[in-house]
Amino acid sequence: MPGDGKRSLDERITSAQKLPGDEGFEESLRPYFLSEYIGQARVKENLAVYIEAARMRKEPMDHVLLSGPPGLGKTTLAHVIANELGVGIRVTSGPAIERAGDLVAILTSLEDRDILFIDEIHRLNRTCEEALYPAMEDFVFDWVSGKGPSARTYRIKIPRFTLVGATTRQGLLTSPLRDRFGINLRLEYYSCDELLQVVLRSSRILKIPVDEEGAREIASRSRGTPRVANRLLRRVRDYAEVRKDGRITREVAREALDLLEIDEAGLDKLDQEILRTIAYKYGGGPVGLATVAAALSEDPETIEYVYEPYLLQLGFLERTARGRVITPLGLKHLGSNPARPAQGGLFPQA
Ligand code: ADE
Repeated sequence: MPGDGKRSLDERITSAQKLPGDEGFEESLRPYFLSEYIGQARVKENLAVYIEAARMRKEPMDHVLLSGPPGLGKTTLAHVIANELGVGIRVTSGPAIERAGDLVAILTSLEDRDILFIDEIHRLNRTCEEALYPAMEDFVFDWVSGKGPSARTYRIKIPRFTLVGATTRQGLLTSPLRDRFGINLRLEYYSCDELLQVVLRSSRILKIPVDEEGAREIASRSRGTPRVANRLLRRVRDYAEVRKDGRITREVAREALDLLEIDEAGLDKLDQEILRTIAYKYGGGPVGLATVAAALSEDPETIEYVYEPYLLQLGFLERTARGRVITPLGLKHLGSNPARPAQGGLFPQA
């Protein structure tokens, strides 16, 4: 939020959220078919079966819920599903659907077996969510006309469709909505080797000269997230073109990423500050989330859902019932020695 003294997420080059500069760029890199989609092996295997079955029966595929951290390719996967099924796709998001009227307009404009992709589906309001139930179950929409005792309900038939819902917060979905998805798939962070493949593929498409070691350097600092990898690739290309001969080698990538203050584990300054605060200000923890957030002038939700998942994934941080604790691995990353406790002890017994 500008002006309130808090750092804006959108300024972070390491943010997994979509940034304005990503728009056309991400689309140009989007894989078309499952065979081109790197990583998420289990998800792809499942989808391949459901897609084939729906195609053979000439029926719409069952509704799919995709969950997982931002930037891992949920929107991309929805497009891949549509391409594989040979059907159209309509893209919208939970907050964009304000009234039942918005929803009925979208649903009636679909063609038979089309995909309706609703991003951030956990942010759909209650009225629209409930209107979606009969649409998902029976391909009908109950339109209420008028108010109070004179209100009448009309049942409208809508085309058969597949809802692909995406969420970063599966826990916020109501169970009636979650239960209406026949297929529930969770996307995981990418391994360094998978991200290496993503960087090499993007470089080929964008005709960026990069050697394998240069690409691996970018991959290893990309927080398990293709969106970050592709963004860092662009920044490193700028550096290589302006300061070097345009080619991305390991040395060039290292220099460029050091300049961006992204460390070898992909942590930016705020990630490091979170770890340092817990380690040095609060004796390694446990310390409550609200306390950490206040110490950094950040919003607790932002810390919990934007910064912490990657620190947890790296094993640098643990969430305990009594608060956040930095791990020996996290301390090692900070360059401290976990065998030498700071005052008060770094690891108080729980
Ligand atoms: N670009 C972003 N995510 C990708 C993925 N999983 N596979 C290929 N290209 C991508």
